[in-house]
Amino acid sequence: MEIAVIGTGYVGLVTGAGLADFGNDVVCVDIDEKKIDALRKGVIPIYEPGLDHLVSKNVDEGRLRFTTDLAAAIRNSRAIFIAVGTPSKPDGSADLRYVEEVARSIAEHMESPKLVITKSTVPIGTGRMIERIIGERGNGHKVSVVSNPEFLREGSAIEDFMRPDRVVIGASDEQSVALMKEIYAPLHSLEIPFVVTNVESSELIKYAANGFLATKITFINEIAQVCELVGADVHDVAVGMGLDSRIGSKFLQAGPGFGGSCFPKDTLSMADIARRHGYDFQIMEAVLRVNDDIKQRMVEKISAAIGGNVAGKTIGILGLAFKPETDDMRDSPTIPIIKGLQQKGAKIRAYDPQAMENAKLIFDDIEYCDDAYQTAQDADALVIATEWNEFRALNLNKISAALRQPVVVDLRNVYDPKRMKSGGFRYVSVGRVADGRTKEQ
Ligand SMILES: NC(=O)c1ccc[n+]([C@@H]2O[C@H](COP(=O)([O-])OP(=O)(O)OC[C@H]3O[C@@H](n4cnc5c(N)ncnc54)[C@H](O)[C@@H]3O)[C@@H](O)[C@H]2O)c1
Repeated sequence: MEIAVIGTGYVGLVTGAGLADFGNDVVCVDIDEKKIDALRKGVIPIYEPGLDHLVSKNVDEGRLRFTTDLAAAIRNSRAIFIAVGTPSKPDGSADLRYVEEVARSIAEHMESPKLVITKSTVPIGTGRMIERIIGERGNGHKVSVVSNPEFLREGSAIEDFMRPDRVVIGASDEQSVALMKEIYAPLHSLEIPFVVTNVESSELIKYAANGFLATKITFINEIAQVCELVGADVHDVAVGMGLDSRIGSKFLQAGPGFGGSCFPKDTLSMADIARRHGYDFQIMEAVLRVNDDIKQRMVEKISAAIGGNVAGKTIGILGLAFKPETDDMRDSPTIPIIKGLQQKGAKIRAYDPQAMENAKLIFDDIEYCDDAYQTAQDADALVIATEWNEFRALNLNKISAALRQPVVVDLRNVYDPKRMKSGGFRYVSVGRVADGRTKEQ
């Protein structure tokens, strides 16, 4: 099938390459000429493991192209995926301007019936709004709008797209569902569950899923705080909880709060959607508040680890991206943590294997380093902020020798407290104690 994917970012590019790999003819469209130019030259504008191979394979086999010519892409395709950004507005609602722009372009350029699919995360009612925009401005050709939210995780996006836990399709007619199943035919034959529902339910599934996951992370972060107060170990508590099959072990790793391009904006938007319909979604509001507080608590934790005052001190930060295996800095917890430390007068040096170019757009007042050891050099404390694999097996003797004082603040609980303590470090982590009985670490 001829498919246009509009918006060639983290989701659009993976979707385009993935759908091409399923055997569809795909054109990926973006208004960002630099991005499209790069892609045409075989340069992948983001870091996502395996994406370069998937893109080049499908380009070479003639199923995947890149263009800025939106009008032609709309005219020539039967199905149009919308994968543009839906960032938060200052009031917490989702900014739909890019989605609306695309809907108007479809209305203007379509010359035959179209299946329009929202891949972007959009508030409930957006599918109907797109239908209305195209109905009012279009030229009478039939349009069916389907919701097909994306659940991929940056860092494992290809695997998540090619073997998802489920495919959600929200549609109002059988023909659209049949077309979607054709597009996703290989997943159907792999017996991946398809959840077919109405457009509104599908739109809400995405927010409900992300809201729930954000709540689960926040819950364990709160438990970690209690652990620190009572002398319990959050790792053991999480294992004990997670073995209950009703709970499950995933998303029970305590840390510096959730971040990234999805959870913060989607929880904000979930709360906003409820509010607009006259309901106070108290859990979501609490999750947002707690998640903000956690970042501040991490600043205090780092500060306390070096005696309560970071003014004039140098803090080395390992990892800047919101999670490993991505270069994405959007809403990374490291942003408020670094800003909080800077406000208290700390000097920051940092290293991330992939995210430093994006970090430079946010911070021009930190010293960027070439590796973990350079980051530790003459620092008063080393903070593990993102659990990249290369930070899991550091040469601790080298780190200790490089640091001005052997202080490690491990916001991702990568290291064993006992081992760190016996290695001579003042080691602080999240919700854990050295021997499970004492509050001292
Ligand atoms: N990033 C994720 O992990 C993830 C996962 C699931 C869902 N989502 C959702 O998918 C959507 C896209 O997210 P993303 O991270 O890929 O965003 P992104 O910012 O990486 O990409 C969006 C792209 O759309 C392009 N664009 C904007 N307006 C356009 C237009 N009129 N025509 C053509 N291109 C246009 C931008 O130039 C940009 O390249 C969001 O709604 C997001 O919530 C993201």
